Amino acid sequence: MKGIILAGGEGTRLHPLTKITSKQLLPVYDRPMIYYPLNTLLKAGISDILIIVAPKHSSDFLDLLGSGKEFGAHFTYEIQDKPEGIAQAFQIGADFIDGENCALILGDNIFTDDFTDVIKSFKTGAKIFAKKVPDPERFGVVDFKGDKVISIEEKPKNPKSFYAQTGFYLYDNSVIEKAKNLKPSARGELEITDLNITYLKEGNLSAEVVKGDWFDAGTFESLHEASLAVRKKKLGEPSIKVTIKTPQIHQSEFKGCTL
Ligand code: TTP
Repeated sequence: MKGIILAGGEGTRLHPLTKITSKQLLPVYDRPMIYYPLNTLLKAGISDILIIVAPKHSSDFLDLLGSGKEFGAHFTYEIQDKPEGIAQAFQIGADFIDGENCALILGDNIFTDDFTDVIKSFKTGAKIFAKKVPDPERFGVVDFKGDKVISIEEKPKNPKSFYAQTGFYLYDNSVIEKAKNLKPSARGELEITDLNITYLKEGNLSAEVVKGDWFDAGTFESLHEASLAVRKKKLGEPSIKVTIKTPQIHQSEFKGCTL
């Protein structure tokens, strides 16, 4: 199984942090964000990995990650000229995937689960990973029976389940052909949900429940939550609560800058 990390996009919800760097290079506690999805793939035994990046900060990814040797892996890089949708990863990555099955993970998705077994047993069709959330209407909502997906709906007003589609997916090799035939949506993107619906219509879409934590670190709140969760996992709960007193800062000290 080959792996793709999709690490382009604009990261507009994290402006101004993402004006001078890529979202996936921002720190999540003590590591750049992309280390986490990378680790998810490596941990599951996927070591031939394509990293798709936006043109603006592409050299930073190469500086950070290099050939992959340091990680016991092999990295290939491709540029996505414009953020024209998640499913475009399979048009950009068609040559890289070649004749194999492929896992796709979004560069801002952080999981604590180990997916080794599910990846080893995956043979055909497509598999999406769903996480129970309190506010499903904010996500692509997956309804499934056993592991068979019955429906996926983008941000529905009346969700059919509490399960959100996360940014981790497994596909058989027919994904290359299916992605070629996708048409841009009303917002001009090749939608991953449209790709998954193609598999759904064939009766070849299954779902796996994510048992551990899942963070989509694309907002200030979720980025902060992810950092706190990683810190807690590494250090445990702090035994002594330290209260830091915020110093009084006078607005006049920040000439021309509104905080
Ligand atoms: P999003 O969070 O949907 O988009 P974004 O990263 O541009 O952020 P914002 O909405 O704040 O502007 O993307 C989810 C992940 O997929 C993220 O890691 C970026 C990646 N992505 C691409 O690499 N290319 C794309 O065309 C899209 C749509 C997303």
